[in-house]
Amino acid sequence: MTSRRVALVKPSPTLAITARGIQLRREGKDIVSLSVGEPDFPVFPHVEEAIVAALRKGLTKYTASSGVAELREAISDWMYDESEKRYPISQIIATSGAKQALYNACQALLDEGDEAVIPNPYWVSYPEMVRLAGATPVELELSAEDGWVPRPEALARVMTERTRVVMLGSPGNPTGAVWDVAALQGIARVLERYPKAVVLSDDIYCRLVYGGVKAVNFLKVAPQLTSRTLLINGCSKAYAMTGLRIGWACGPAEIISAMNKIQDASTSNASSLSQYAAIAALRGPQEPLEVMRQQFERRRDLMVDLIGRIPGMKATKPDGAYYVFSDVREALGDRTSLQLSEHLLEQHGVAVVPGSAFGREGYVRFSFATSEDQIRKGLLRVAEGIASL
Ligand SMILES: Cc1ncc(COP(=O)(O)O)c(C=O)c1O
Repeated sequence: MTSRRVALVKPSPTLAITARGIQLRREGKDIVSLSVGEPDFPVFPHVEEAIVAALRKGLTKYTASSGVAELREAISDWMYDESEKRYPISQIIATSGAKQALYNACQALLDEGDEAVIPNPYWVSYPEMVRLAGATPVELELSAEDGWVPRPEALARVMTERTRVVMLGSPGNPTGAVWDVAALQGIARVLERYPKAVVLSDDIYCRLVYGGVKAVNFLKVAPQLTSRTLLINGCSKAYAMTGLRIGWACGPAEIISAMNKIQDASTSNASSLSQYAAIAALRGPQEPLEVMRQQFERRRDLMVDLIGRIPGMKATKPDGAYYVFSDVREALGDRTSLQLSEHLLEQHGVAVVPGSAFGREGYVRFSFATSEDQIRKGLLRVAEGIASL
């Protein structure tokens, strides 16, 4: 009864784990979640005030499909700080989360028979979005030994005349790896040889970086690829606004206008109140973000230290995002990462995401977007769970 396209899409394993955790909690079990993908901080006070003010002013009507001009102006200024590129508002689309920006981009760029290169391990939604657009995901293998940074020769091996999209993500989910200038230059040199390939640079974690590391915007390194690069970003992670659903894309006029067509025909504008919240987040004081970032940095250090003490598990410090992608191959024996995750959840009350969800067996993703208490308690359970295998 349903379409062929939808039959190709796999149910999200991360959502399945979350759902099972919720069910166990409802049954009265004490579950520690180290699987969350969102900051545990409330929205910043000035953002909260902006939503209330917008509501009181009656700003509850449809807006331009691509977002109110004031929001796109605020995005333009914020993105100038990131990329040193000045995007006119006609080259910006505000969306319901970065996810919709990525989805619209895939719909706008991909046809049947096209290929989209996705670094593996990948964020779970990338391959599904590509499949929903009728195209084929092609994986670019990254390795822990390289710090999860793509090698130019590996990229060159997966590029073909059919490659229409190349997804880049730094800091990445699930590895938290931040790609330096040399890595981005290597990628750019390969892409210069493929004029039909459009870069989707998903920079959603760009402000969540640690230990003095900076996330360098791809266009700062490869301005020669501006005419075929889309910069994707949003408020979800940096401003703890996941449920408010504001993301965006900046890029070439032709692609943004195609994405607008798709948005017009599907959802129209992102929530008007959330748009005003986003203006406050982007234009307002940035100190709360810094306070949150510093907390994440402490939690990261704690988590890596605690994982390192568990026999059979390895962890290196990620430079960004809020995930530790831990090598658990020794602990697994002949089990899969999914079996380990199920064992940890069902028998020991701790939710983690198996590496297989991100296309990489032998690993588990732990999120440190939760309190130090929960991190300690959760990892104690992980240690017990591994000891009991
Ligand atoms: C790499 C990556 N891109 C995009 C998103 C989606 O962000 P949003 O909530 O703004 O749709 C996520 C969320 O988990 C992510 O991890």
